[in-house]
Amino acid sequence: MSSHIVGSHALTKHMESNILKTSQEAKNARLQNPMVIDATVGQLNSENGTLFRYLAVDRQLKELNDQEMYVYAPVNGSKNFSEGVIDWVFGKHKESILKSFMVNVIPTTGGSGALSNTIYNFNDFGQKVLIPNYFWTPYENIAEEANLGVETFRMYDDEYRFNVDDFERKAKELSARQGRLFFLMNDPCNNPTGLCLTTDQWRQLIAVLNEIAARDIPVILLHDIAYIDFQMKPEDQSRDIFTAYLDLDPRILAVIAFSGSKTFSMYGFRIGAQIGLSKSKQVMEDFKRVGDYSVRARFSSVSRPAMSVIGKIFATPELNVGFKAELAEARSILEKRIALFQSCADLEGLKYLPYGGGFFIGVETKNCRIFEDLVADGVYVIAMPGLIRIALSSVNLNDIPRLVKAIKKNV
Ligand SMILES: Cc1ncc(COP(=O)(O)O)c(C=O)c1O
Repeated sequence: MSSHIVGSHALTKHMESNILKTSQEAKNARLQNPMVIDATVGQLNSENGTLFRYLAVDRQLKELNDQEMYVYAPVNGSKNFSEGVIDWVFGKHKESILKSFMVNVIPTTGGSGALSNTIYNFNDFGQKVLIPNYFWTPYENIAEEANLGVETFRMYDDEYRFNVDDFERKAKELSARQGRLFFLMNDPCNNPTGLCLTTDQWRQLIAVLNEIAARDIPVILLHDIAYIDFQMKPEDQSRDIFTAYLDLDPRILAVIAFSGSKTFSMYGFRIGAQIGLSKSKQVMEDFKRVGDYSVRARFSSVSRPAMSVIGKIFATPELNVGFKAELAEARSILEKRIALFQSCADLEGLKYLPYGGGFFIGVETKNCRIFEDLVADGVYVIAMPGLIRIALSSVNLNDIPRLVKAIKKNV
């Protein structure tokens, strides 16, 4: 028993890297001095520096009736939302996925709610979740909050391709040690690197998961697709990776963490979903049983206005087409910034990680004081061990040449 005001399990809680806090510091610095470049925030801004809003979302929000706006959202989601999210996520591969798998949707408070519910329910306390060595830092906090830790593998090989060999080595070692494998991967458009795996690399990953499952070890794949709509290719092609899922061993549970924040610019509304898939009826019954319980026990239900708006966009063909055209415009904003960053970096001789899509580009560094050095030059980024994450989603074109020069000087 402890006499401390904080419970003993919470005594060591301390946020080492708080992206939202650093972002706030950057915002304040920019208010004092407009020359400051804020490349911290994972939010898509227009060239005028304000949030990129979708007209389709805006209009629907303003037209919601009281029922669509104020009442509790159904725990299993409205028909429009829960069926629509399956259409949206799997696109042209929906039929083949539904033929091979049982699929269940649980609405959550953002992608974060989907991640934390899954991590909490499908591990034993004290175990480790396998992630790449460059990762969105809240993964570690979400794991620790669930009495878990993380173990990493090297994300890249020497040629800067996804390191399937190191994944395989670590996955086998960890699963043998703890009798479970829980693998969490953010793809496509990885945060913090911009990496996008090929369908063939997904096939190789899944072959390793299958080999482990065949040893009667529980295997869970948690696939975080927060930025799937910002891959530098049309939406239907960014869904091709799901064809690799068809090979999944029947004992495996796959959970896709969907986020409404990035795709719909509804960051503050807190809407997302856990999409569970398995070929096993028993596994899916377990998924639904513990998922529904945790929703009720942790946050009860999700944002009704966001569910109503997204559900309408999913279910109304004209809205869907109009929204997709706006999404293409959002991607083209990013595309121009990335192209300019890359050409400036090539000119300056600054190396960056291979970029396939998303809000961020990554630059490796050996400078342990890179954050402070860049701040001294009026630039805010998110620094992590060995890497800086540059959120081009929130930097306008004019600032990019200066941003590249400052990074090159300090990296
Ligand atoms: C990699 C990644 N996953 C998940 C999320 C969760 O986003 P939200 O909880 O807002 O849906 C984010 C948000 O920044 C993210 O960057």
